[in-house]
Amino acid sequence: MKLIESPSELHATLSGVSSVGLVPTMGYLHDGHASLIRRARIENEVVVVSVFVNPLQFGRGEDLGRYPRDLPHDLRVAQDAGAHVLFTPSVETMYPVGFATRVEVTGPGDGFEGASRPGHFSGVATVVLKLLNLVKPARAYFGEKDWQQLAVVRRVTTDLNLDVDIVACPTMREPSGLALSSRNAYLTAEQRERASVLASALRAAQKAYRRGERRSAAILDAARLVLLSEREFTLDYLSLVDEHLGEFERVTNPASARLLIAGRLFGVRLIDNMPLVEE
Ligand code: PAJ
Repeated sequence: MKLIESPSELHATLSGVSSVGLVPTMGYLHDGHASLIRRARIENEVVVVSVFVNPLQFGRGEDLGRYPRDLPHDLRVAQDAGAHVLFTPSVETMYPVGFATRVEVTGPGDGFEGASRPGHFSGVATVVLKLLNLVKPARAYFGEKDWQQLAVVRRVTTDLNLDVDIVACPTMREPSGLALSSRNAYLTAEQRERASVLASALRAAQKAYRRGERRSAAILDAARLVLLSEREFTLDYLSLVDEHLGEFERVTNPASARLLIAGRLFGVRLIDNMPLVEE
C-alpha cells in the first residue's frame, strides 16, 4: 500500500487505472471503516482511502483539536482491509490561503445534524466534492451510520451532475449494539457499554412497530422510555423520518421509515439510526 500526501503523486499513481473506489474518512479507522474498504476492494481495481480531519466541518467549540489521530494504526487497518492507497493531504493542500468556496446543501442538510451543527454539512459537502475531484473515483463508499450525511452526499452528486456511484454500507456495531465510531475513543470501556442505550432505544421503537403500533409518537415513546434508564444521557433529537428526512404522524411506508437519534453521554455527542423494519 502507498502513503500519498500530494495530489500530483495521487494523479500519477491513478493514471491508467480502470476503476477507482474512494473511501473518504477522518482516520482513527475502525471496523466500520474497514467494512467500507473491503466492499470497495471487491468492486474496484484500486481502492483509495482518504484520511483528512476536515476543519471545515467542525463548529466552534467542537472537538477538532482533540479529534483522535493515529496514522500508523490507520495504515495497518487500511492495508489489512485491502486498500491500495492511503491519501493524507495536509490542511494547507486542501485549503490554501485564499480558499473561499463552500458547497451549501439545503433540503436534506437542513434539519437534525444540520440544525444542531450549523455549517457542518457545508463543510462535509465541500470536502467530499474536493476529494471526488481529486480522486475521480467510479464509486465512493459511505456508511449508513451517518444517515443524513449519506443523503447530503447523494444530493450533492445529483445536483452537481457528478459521475460517481455513491455506495451505502451498513452500520457496524459492537456486540452491545453500540455503533462503531472514532468518537467512541472519548469514552471509557464502561461508558461505551452504557452508550449502547442509543441502539437499545431504537430497537425498542422497532419492537413497538412490530407489535402493531403505527403512530410515530407512540413508537418514539417506546424509545424514550429506554433512554430514561440512562440518567447521564441528554437527548438532542429522536425522530422517525421518510427517505427525504421528512417526519410523519403515522407509518404508511414502513420500508423507507428510518429512526434517527442524537444526544450527549458523558460529554460526548453520539448519533445513531436504524430502519424501522430490519430486512
Ligand atoms: P468518518 O467519521 O471517519 O467516517 C468515514 C466513513 O465511515 C463515513 O462514510 C461513515 O459513515 C463511515 N462509518 C463510520 N462509522 C461506521 C460504522 N460503525 N459502520 C459503517 N460505516 C461507518 O464521515 C466522515 O468521516 C466525514 O464526514 C467525511 C465523509 C470523511 C468527510 O470529511
